[in-house]
Amino acid sequence: IPVDLFDLVIFGGTGDLARRKILPGLFRRFCAGQMPDQARVIGAARSEMDSDGYREMVREAIGEFGGGHTFEPAQLEAFLGQLEYVAIDALGEQGWKELQALMAGTERVEAYYFSVAPSLFGEIAERLQKWGMADDQARIVVEKPFGRDLETARALNKTLATYFNEDQIYRIDHYLGKETVQNLMAVRFGNMLFEPLWNSQYVDHIQITVAETVGVGGRGEYYDKSGAMRDMVQNHLMQLLCLIAMEPPARFSPDAVRDEKLKVIRALEPVLPYHVVRGQYQAEPCNEAKNPGFRTAVGNPRSRTESFIALRTEISNWRWAGTPFYLRTGKRMQARSSEITVVFKDTPHSIFAEDAGRHRNVLSIRLQPNEGITLGVTIKEPGPGGMRLIDVPLDMSYAEAINPDDVEHVDAYERLIMDVIRGNQTLFMRGDEVEAAWAWTDPIIKGWEARNDVPKPYDHGSTGPTDSTELLRREGREWRQVT
Ligand code: BG6
Repeated sequence: IPVDLFDLVIFGGTGDLARRKILPGLFRRFCAGQMPDQARVIGAARSEMDSDGYREMVREAIGEFGGGHTFEPAQLEAFLGQLEYVAIDALGEQGWKELQALMAGTERVEAYYFSVAPSLFGEIAERLQKWGMADDQARIVVEKPFGRDLETARALNKTLATYFNEDQIYRIDHYLGKETVQNLMAVRFGNMLFEPLWNSQYVDHIQITVAETVGVGGRGEYYDKSGAMRDMVQNHLMQLLCLIAMEPPARFSPDAVRDEKLKVIRALEPVLPYHVVRGQYQAEPCNEAKNPGFRTAVGNPRSRTESFIALRTEISNWRWAGTPFYLRTGKRMQARSSEITVVFKDTPHSIFAEDAGRHRNVLSIRLQPNEGITLGVTIKEPGPGGMRLIDVPLDMSYAEAINPDDVEHVDAYERLIMDVIRGNQTLFMRGDEVEAAWAWTDPIIKGWEARNDVPKPYDHGSTGPTDSTELLRREGREWRQVT
């Protein structure tokens, strides 16, 4: 179903995110028939070029990053025909008049995507207002990082609030656009089965792992100032934690969902220093030139920034008091694997012989790759061996349960951009949520700074520093395997 007619202006329209994600994503939506014929995508950036030049750039970007779907050449031409470009100076006056002229006219949804450094958010917002484009129907989309601590996030929220209402601001966390993340809500709130068990009485602990095999790549400068805590935990892992732990919202509507998420963040316990493990990856042995260590990759031989973090926290409310939540994320790890695991408690008593074996139910929600949800249940080992218990998965892997040909692949970004056009903020972060997340993160980071904390080295392709294993082992638990 096509969305309403729209004009989407992408500030930073020639940048990495636009070329890798936003434009290929829009093209896929176009091919799926969701983008109306008269809708326009307007690239706005500093580079001097005309709309034809921009179309060529986008053609190349789609060739390089489009991947995953087949299309007719005519479809690409038609999509390119809906693109425009304005060379604009975010800090000056150049280009704004042209943009204003382009945006004047017919009734349509107007969205402005700020795919630029956060330091430019205020400048762009101010100019949009000055040139009459920030009316109360306009929508803006802002990317992370949303600040680098509570103070800067507050300042950013304040600046944006000068020009836009909260219901016009779409703060993107692309993890919320991932298919399984939404499925997590369907599983939790669409089934009777799980809710009665979803609390500290039945759940032993919850793990959230987002492991990556990539290093910091060409983003060394940004990453060295940020680290895994700011880059991943404050936003992506926090959002996953909220969705797994929140109370059932009264309805699946933006504020009902976001109110519940906010309560989780505000109930998070401060993290004790010995409940955090930080790591920095080492070079790949014998392949240092291709896969250098973290410090070389960020060009800072004395860097104390973490490329890996594992931590333990708790949520102080009636549902979760006493249940540990273990969070872990890192780069250059053994495998790319994102998973949320709910480990249930032991049965209160075993009626079987000691050597029958004993297993816990484990619900694992896999975000990537091989997205799907698996529930481990205990059964009798088939055969004549007597009553021996084994663990088998009750599987809901998409690949098997649902014919992949029937499922349209929708990348997180394209889903979220379409939500902006539809005016649905459910999968976007509200200003108070972001601030609350920083309020929890800040003291942890300040503690490291005060102690001059040095991250532990870990091997390229490993599961992080051994201290991370210890974090769980000393509590009689272990991390799920990263596979
Ligand atoms: C980004 C981080 O927000 O998410 C990157 O800045 C990280 O460092 C990326 O690699 C991970 O996203 P995904 O969708 O590949 O898991």
